[in-house]
Parts: sequence; structure tokens; C-alpha cells
Amino acid sequence: MSTDLKSTPRFQQPQERRDFLGLAAAWSAIATVFLALLGALRLPAPWAFPESSRRVKLGPVSAFKGISITPEPKERLWVFSDDKGLYVISAVCTHLGCVVAKQEDGSFFCPCHGSRFDTEGKVTKGPAPKPLLHLELSVSADGQLVVDHDKEVGSDVRLKV
Ligand code: FES
Repeated sequence: MSTDLKSTPRFQQPQERRDFLGLAAAWSAIATVFLALLGALRLPAPWAFPESSRRVKLGPVSAFKGISITPEPKERLWVFSDDKGLYVISAVCTHLGCVVAKQEDGSFFCPCHGSRFDTEGKVTKGPAPKPLLHLELSVSADGQLVVDHDKEVGSDVRLKV
């Protein structure tokens, strides 16, 4: 009588456990791919990253008219008033985005890498590659001065008030 060793319980593979682990791995992979695709589909949708409005009310126009310089540190800009009207210069350095400081002579200085800008925001010393931004101003229906951080205007543009 011959005994087939492979048919003895000792040499039989635990088929049920292997099947379970294989199925668990397969379902985990499927779930991972499904969730990754779901996340990837959500990325371009506007509701995944809602845009905040970049138009900001600064206050009543009368609070700025006739006042030569009004700092708005929360918005990182200055509002200027001259005989032609109102204008805004951004305080964000065009090099790497540090906030520039206004000097006593009216020029601007960036403490991060030493860029300097004249009173109109033009670069007088690098490494800043571009002048400070002049941003668009408007007046809202309720008489508030509104700055649009997304709209750059020329340095000679004034809001007549
Ligand atoms: S961030 Fe202003 S000079 Fe570099």
C-alpha cells in the first residue's frame, strides 16, 4: 500500500486563508484606485477649492480722499491720494512675496532680500524683477472704496473721486 504524502493534511496548502488574503488584497487595490479616482475628479471642480473674492471693500471713499497715504496692512497695500485721485500700491514684493516696508522718503524696501522701489513702486534695486503692483480701484454702490487684487492697472491710473 503506497501513501501519497501530498494528500496528507500536513502537506495540503491552507487554501481558504490564501483565498481570503488574495481577495482582501484585490479589494483593497480596487478600493484604493476607486478613491484615488474620486479624489482626482474632485480637484478641478470649483466647489472643491472655492475661490474667495479678491475684491475687497476698504471703507468709505471719504476716509481716503485727501489723505496722502493710508496703510491697509490687512490687505497688504497702501491707498494714496493726490490731486488726480486715488490709487493703490500693493505691499507684496514681486520677488518672492514678502511685505515691503515704506521708508520715510516715500520709497519702499523689502527686508527679505533687499529690493528697493521708488515712490511709484518702480524697482531701483533688485532682485525684484517687476515694480510693485498698482491695483484697480472702484466705488461700490454704497460708497465704499473697493480694491481688486486680481486686476493690475498702470501706475498713472487714478480713481477720480
Ligand atoms: S522677497 Fe522682496 S526682495 Fe526677495
